[in-house]
Amino acid sequence: MVDSHQNIKQIKPFNFVVFGGDGDLSKRKIIPALFHRFADKQIKVDFTIRCITRNLSDEVAFKQTLKEFILLSLKENDKNAIIDDFLKRVALIKIEKNDKASYDKLKVDLEKTKSYQNVYYFSVPSSAFSEICNTLKSSDLINDQSKVVLEKPLGYDLKSSRAINDIISAAFKEEQIFRIDHYLGKETVQNLMVLRFANHLFERAWNAENIEDIQITVAESLGVEKRAGYYDKTGALLDMMQNHLLQLLCLIAMEPPSSLNPNAVRNEKVKVLESLRLFDKESIKENVVKGQYTRGANGETKLNSYLEDIEKYNSETETFVAIKAHIDNWRWKNTPIYLRTGKRMKKRYSDIVINFKELPHSIFPESNYPLKNKLIIRLQPEERIELVQLSKVPGPGGYRFKPISLKLDFIDSFQDRMPDAYERLIIDLIRGDQTLFMRHDELEAAWIWIESINKNWKKEIPLILYESGSWGPGNDILDENIKWETK
Ligand code: BG6
Repeated sequence: MVDSHQNIKQIKPFNFVVFGGDGDLSKRKIIPALFHRFADKQIKVDFTIRCITRNLSDEVAFKQTLKEFILLSLKENDKNAIIDDFLKRVALIKIEKNDKASYDKLKVDLEKTKSYQNVYYFSVPSSAFSEICNTLKSSDLINDQSKVVLEKPLGYDLKSSRAINDIISAAFKEEQIFRIDHYLGKETVQNLMVLRFANHLFERAWNAENIEDIQITVAESLGVEKRAGYYDKTGALLDMMQNHLLQLLCLIAMEPPSSLNPNAVRNEKVKVLESLRLFDKESIKENVVKGQYTRGANGETKLNSYLEDIEKYNSETETFVAIKAHIDNWRWKNTPIYLRTGKRMKKRYSDIVINFKELPHSIFPESNYPLKNKLIIRLQPEERIELVQLSKVPGPGGYRFKPISLKLDFIDSFQDRMPDAYERLIIDLIRGDQTLFMRHDELEAAWIWIESINKNWKKEIPLILYESGSWGPGNDILDENIKWETK
């Protein structure tokens, strides 16, 4: 049903079943996101939450932990009664691996609310997706109303991703599959579409004719923390580049979609991914850098090396990757796009910097700065858009310039709590809106490009060690005033 005023689909009653329900992501993000949408009265229908675990757990203690995480995500601690009401709908259910009998029990439980849609959220490593999906299917737990949510990375290469997709697609139709990338739920990331397609000023200049280069940086100050097992098999290329950075790139580089219809948007994103220039043994040497953090310090705090963090003597897994990419299409011909991400950087921040070209001619012979502009889109931790422009330094004696920023800080304009990325995405998927989720062909195109790196980089490029708390290999490459070159 569609709300006639807002053109928004109504939420139907649902059972939300989280596999990996007692895991970190579920406790920190998924369940608190559902809570906030409930507390803000966006979810007005009836619902249940079933957290699936493989361990024997104590439901009372589990709910207490959930409560603590929810409290952490609140600005004011005045919602105890609502939290308790919310938690009444949560149950912890133990399911043994592949065990038909436990799935049958789940079925009995879900049939108490038989008319509800069942949303299955796979918050587990993708190696477990196929088995869960097959058992759901053979237990007759999937119908036309059901939905499945898949956390990234889907597989570890093109082949394994295809194999998983085949199994999921045999049980669910594409309209029922939600491949989640939480970056697409971030307010600042969604604002990229608004910035580009609701403002005349920028879109006219958004092409190779006017833009010299684009730099997309996601720098994290944390290391791998408690995720050694997962991270050492994954690395920065699959953990961040294959999904989050490529999604940012799509939003920055795509053509205007004909509408906000999910397929119209995703068609344009696929075209960007398909136009990415593939790497080979030669081009990878010039255009890709990988690194791994060693010991270092952040102020007074001493930081471990990656090997110490994962408790191994040896590992070739990269915790930093930087790529000079090209999109071979009309709009972006010869415009380098720098993508970089790393753990244990000096500071946590995510930026998209658009460096505009220098003006073709200067009428100011003494100008002390090149005549060009820069647009900086700060995605996190602050949310800000900054347009760097040249201004005359006041005073006699000719024209001397200073770059000055026009700044829009979101916090000044929008003072409410910024919803977490998962809140928007979870509501969208319960509603069945796929705009912010990856389609099968989008994922496939992303894998093809990543595979051209993954296949070629083991032998061809060295793993550069960098100090924890630094800016990674090459030191100054994250300094936005310096045009970073991979050489
Ligand atoms: C996750 C990665 O998808 O994104 C993590 O697995 C990473 O390694 C995280 O730390 C970063 O997300 P955010 O929202 O903190 O930028």
